[in-house]
Amino acid sequence: MAANALMGVHRVLIDLVRQRAPADEVPDRLAADLRAYRTQAFTFLAQGLASGPSRPHNLSRYAAVMPTALVTGATAGIGAAFARRLAADGFDLVLLARDVERLEQAADTFRTAHGIQVEVLPADLNTGVGLAKAEQRAADGVDLVVNNAGFGQRGDFVDTELAEELAMLRVHCEAVLRLTRAALPGMMERGRGGVINVASVAAFFPRGTYSASKAWVVTFSESACQQVAGTGAHVMALCPGWVRTEFHERSGMDTSGIPAGMWLDADQFVDAAIRDFRRGVPVSVPDVRYKVMVGLGRALPRRLVARLSARAGSRHQ
Ligand SMILES: NC(=O)c1ccc[n+]([C@@H]2O[C@H](COP(=O)([O-])OP(=O)(O)OC[C@H]3O[C@@H](n4cnc5c(N)ncnc54)[C@H](OP(=O)(O)O)[C@@H]3O)[C@@H](O)[C@H]2O)c1
Repeated sequence: MAANALMGVHRVLIDLVRQRAPADEVPDRLAADLRAYRTQAFTFLAQGLASGPSRPHNLSRYAAVMPTALVTGATAGIGAAFARRLAADGFDLVLLARDVERLEQAADTFRTAHGIQVEVLPADLNTGVGLAKAEQRAADGVDLVVNNAGFGQRGDFVDTELAEELAMLRVHCEAVLRLTRAALPGMMERGRGGVINVASVAAFFPRGTYSASKAWVVTFSESACQQVAGTGAHVMALCPGWVRTEFHERSGMDTSGIPAGMWLDADQFVDAAIRDFRRGVPVSVPDVRYKVMVGLGRALPRRLVARLSARAGSRHQ
């Protein structure tokens, strides 16, 4: 209750600042005051929650003691929604993607609107240099990692360029593995922190390298979650269904056959994901329709699921 009330006050204060001056005109001093207020508010929340009922994955509590979140793929879609939500919750951010201009733009907006520290980390996770850079930053000490960067694929496995398949494994699997491995030891030592690995509902439906890479993310995250249990750190696989982002257009998918009611809003999706993360859920599928779909994917005979997946997949190429 107290936590919710304080979060409410915090948001009202930010809204007031936004109303009084456009985002790019908030004076430095006001931003600094806002930052000081936020720190006090979150410290209070941390103390209140620490002595209250056991809520090991409460994000408000984390914000007092784990102020930095690294988000990969932060320039668009789900990653950008995570960055918006975490900035509003008072996290300092490390924003990673390839497009420097978009990263700088987002960073400026968050600094001005929320008075937080934002680092820009341009990196291509399909290159050794980009992976090493990201890995180093994760190892240097962040308290929440959102491994979100990714891309889609159209066409059948046999028709796709091998380089594209390998790039997918690198961005979806190698990057997730290396950043999780780099970040977790520090989190376990400090007794707090977390990793959210963005997978997909496709992980439960065999369809090419995309779904295989996301199945790896789910299994890897479930296993890591078990291995860090009791240390204060948490790992969660997050499985989106269809979310309105740049993903489908970028990969040239035909989405005309997807029923309008199946689309999820990125910000609402992220809010639901964070609720699951707070509750310590190991594999989050934050929508009842997709929960049912995943349940069927797990329960039906594997050959039938593969056949249905192939048929559904060919409709969206
Ligand atoms: N949208 C959906 O319906 C859906 C469904 C299931 C799962 N997902 C998963 O959700 C995650 C986010 O997807 P989204 O829908 O938000 O897609 P999006 O709108 O296309 O955004 C993808 C983000 O990843 C970054 N990125 C792509 N390749 C990268 C690379 N090689 N190195 C570094 N950053 C890279 C992009 O930034 P730059 O181009 O600037 O690098 C961008 O910020 C992905 O892992 C995707 O598989 C999405």
